[in-house]
Amino acid sequence: MRGLLHGMRRLIASAALLLSPTLLRPADAPPLREVMAGLGRHMEAITAAISREDWPSASAGAARIAGHPQPPMFEKMRIMGFAGTRVNQFRAYDTEARRQARAVGAAADAGDGPGAILAFAKLQESCLGCHQAFRKAYIQHVRGAR
Ligand code: HEC
Repeated sequence: MRGLLHGMRRLIASAALLLSPTLLRPADAPPLREVMAGLGRHMEAITAAISREDWPSASAGAARIAGHPQPPMFEKMRIMGFAGTRVNQFRAYDTEARRQARAVGAAADAGDGPGAILAFAKLQESCLGCHQAFRKAYIQHVRGAR
C-alpha cells in the first residue's frame, strides 16, 4: 500500500510538472523564495526583540515562523520531484524548524531570555541544516547553474 501510494505521488508529481505554473498557483501562495525571505526578516525581528527584551514581539516573530505560509501547489510538486526519495528529509527539516520556532515562542512568552536565546540558536541550526542539505541543489534545479 505504501509503495502504491508512493508511486501515485510520483505520478502526480510528474503530471504537475507538465502543467503551467500560472494555472496552478493561487494568488495568495507566495513562492518558496518569498516565504524564505520572510523567515529571514522574522529572524532579524526576533533578534532585535531579544536585544530589547521585548518578549511579546519575539513571540510574535516566532509565531510567524511557526505558521509560515506554504508555497503554491506547483512548487510543492516541484520540490517533490527535486527531492525525490529525500522528500521526507526535506519535510523533516521544515517540521523541525517550526517546532524550534514554537520553542522560541514558549520561552519568550515566559519572559525567559536565556531560554529564548538557546531556542533561537537551535532554530538557526534547523534553517542551516536544510540550507546545507538542499538549497544549492534546489536553486540549480529551478534556475540553472549561475
Ligand atoms: C525545508 C528546508 C528549509 C528550511 C527548514 C529553511 N529553508 Fe530557507 N531556503 C530553503 C531553500 C530550498 C531555499 C532556496 C529557495 C530559492 O532560492 O528558490 C532557501 C532560501 C532561503 C533564503 C534566501 C531567500 C532569497 O531571497 O533568496 C533565506 C533568507 C532563508 N532561506 C531563510 C530561512 C530561515 C531564516 C529559516 C529558518 C527559520 C529557513 N530558511 C529554513 C529551504 C529551507
